[in-house]
Amino acid sequence: KKPAGAPDPKLARPVGKVGVVGAGLMASQLALVFARQLKVPVVLTDLDEARVAKGVAWVHGEIAKLREKGRLSDGAAQRLTANVTGTTDSAAAFADADLVIEAVFEELSVKQDVFRTVEKVVREDCVLMTNTSSLSVTAMASVLEHPERLVGFHFFNPVAVMPLVEVVRTTGATPTDDVTLATAFAVGKGLRKSCVLVQDAPAFVVNRLLTRFMSEASVVVDEGTPVEVAEAALDSLGLPMSNFELLGLVGPAVALHVAESLHAAFPERFPVSANLRRIVEAGLPGVYEKGTRTLTEAAREVLVLGD
Ligand code: 3HC
Repeated sequence: KKPAGAPDPKLARPVGKVGVVGAGLMASQLALVFARQLKVPVVLTDLDEARVAKGVAWVHGEIAKLREKGRLSDGAAQRLTANVTGTTDSAAAFADADLVIEAVFEELSVKQDVFRTVEKVVREDCVLMTNTSSLSVTAMASVLEHPERLVGFHFFNPVAVMPLVEVVRTTGATPTDDVTLATAFAVGKGLRKSCVLVQDAPAFVVNRLLTRFMSEASVVVDEGTPVEVAEAALDSLGLPMSNFELLGLVGPAVALHVAESLHAAFPERFPVSANLRRIVEAGLPGVYEKGTRTLTEAAREVLVLGD
């Protein structure tokens, strides 16, 4: 069945090569899922060789794990490994890409710079995607000569597991065109994801709903409720992960960014937790020991908690 709002699937362009801008947590997961499901070459790019090498090594490591678990044959693992490469030379890497998706730092000006640069090196028919969590896709499109080729394509952590992708059509004089949208939906289908078309509104739909729970749970802790009590309350709602567990999954900086975007748009409804800020300012990757709900020493030093 065609997803609601999706244009005629026949308009979709074939995707035979994918470029990923960024080689961090999200970008590396994207590279793996695109290469694995679409069975196409994927090239990761970043600002320096060290970041590129780290991203590619992570993807190759995940492929090795899948092979060890028997989820990929030796041949499939070899082909997949060969299909995921990295470089700092995005001009060369993206020249023949059919699709380029960015997953860099969540700062509008950074993403706009990325798209200005990318548009200079890609073919005219290359579709551009952003995996932004909460920034305006329309504002990113505004720096492009061909804004109609940009679409939001928002995944959730862990990318390999979470079934949904939010497809964001831009607004304004030259919104995302039907060819781009149809390509996005076709790619989503190829990735075995469920795509939903959402408005280009702050944090779209999922993060807006999730942040209501998650920010409020942090604020409750800021106000003196013990962490364990806030966690137990969230558990009772049947969520698969609590607020502080999710921080370790999505990264505190990303979580803070989403909270701040929503606070800017709807100040009354979206407070920003002081403890979340403390975690980000201290540069912590999360607050719990891996796989537990035990606060790390570093988190204990940084967090201001009730009894
Ligand atoms: N990468 C790949 N696969 C993973 C994984 C990872 N990081 N984590 C878990 N999995 C797989 C496991 O291999 C397992 O697969 P299998 O059933 O085929 O063996 C399956 O997921 C279930 O894993 P587990 O049994 O170990 O654990 P759980 O049943 O607790 O599920 C979870 C783990 C899917 C991560 C679950 O806890 C969950 O859904 N958590 C909430 C995630 C969430 O809310 N994500 C959205 C965050 S917001 C976001 O990303 C938006 C951004 O813009 C900020």
